Amino acid sequence: MPLVSTRQLLDEAAKGGYGVGAFNVNDMEQIQAIMEAAKETNSPVIIQASRGARAFAQDNYLYHLMLAAAELYPQIPLAMHLDHGNSFETCESAIKLGFTSVMMDGSLKPDGKTPATFEENVAVTKKVVDYAHERGISVEGEIGVLGGIEDGHGAGGSGLDHVTDPDQAVEFAELTGVDSLAIAIGTSHGAYKFTKKPDGSVLKMDLLIAIHKRLPKTHLVMHGSSSVPKDLQDIINQYGGKLKETWGVPVEEIQLGIKNGVRKVNVDTDNRLAITGAIRKVFIESPEKFDPRDYMKPARAAMQKVVAQRMVQFGQAGHAGDYTAISIADMAKGYANGTLVTKPLVGAK
Ligand code: 13P
Repeated sequence: MPLVSTRQLLDEAAKGGYGVGAFNVNDMEQIQAIMEAAKETNSPVIIQASRGARAFAQDNYLYHLMLAAAELYPQIPLAMHLDHGNSFETCESAIKLGFTSVMMDGSLKPDGKTPATFEENVAVTKKVVDYAHERGISVEGEIGVLGGIEDGHGAGGSGLDHVTDPDQAVEFAELTGVDSLAIAIGTSHGAYKFTKKPDGSVLKMDLLIAIHKRLPKTHLVMHGSSSVPKDLQDIINQYGGKLKETWGVPVEEIQLGIKNGVRKVNVDTDNRLAITGAIRKVFIESPEKFDPRDYMKPARAAMQKVVAQRMVQFGQAGHAGDYTAISIADMAKGYANGTLVTKPLVGAK
């Protein structure tokens, strides 16, 4: 199957009542791990690259690795998504390269650190939506600001500093016409999200449910959705790591989100933990080894295991064969003739 639009994957997920994991990559082994997990569980999947990943891997390497994945796994619906685009130009360059969806994170200014005003966010996101939809590419926006920093992108601080206001979310969706919307409900990027198992005081699932009621046609996106499992932390620390005790987003909370409009679930940290733990284990247990394959193979297998587990937990497992790809050209026609419009009616409460 050619690379497909994220919008198609999310529309299908909405029909089926499941979520789709969006897993971050920087290199070939991570793409291989995700594709093997998708094959193992028969799952559609979104692979995403941040600006940091694009700089690390270089666009051409990344794009051709993604084409290889699509070629080697023709049975898997696969979308290639830009994570946290910081400007129109970043999104434009991703679309020109061949990404099938982009995130315009206008919640921050182009420095990727300073919270932007609502008006600034609307203006840049709308510009990206107009450009992208004309080309059949779907767009994720963000309203509210996530906590933490990922690949140098983020306002830092707690996930509760700038949670999403439901009224603003509705207005934002109406004014921009985004396909999907990342909301801030207390999560943050990275391993250090919560100091104990999160409850409603720090992870605002009620807010998510309220936003979904107001925006039933807009697919919601949960960023910062790593669960930071204790067993992955323990492996790292057992083999010389120094992670401090921490909690992520429990899988059951993500599943509650999926019941309430979450269609895209972003996971990066859990895979980083799995990879690092596996590599540390080889280094400590077999210090005589020096062939990178001796530690990259277990690292890749450890990531595959986490991704496959999430695919089952998010419900996307078993759904790869449900549909055939809509071409990007046909997606463009759908945006032009109004069949893909997601705008809510302003004021419809
Ligand atoms: P985690 O750091 O929780 O994996 O979040 C990743 C993410 O949201 C990517 O945008």
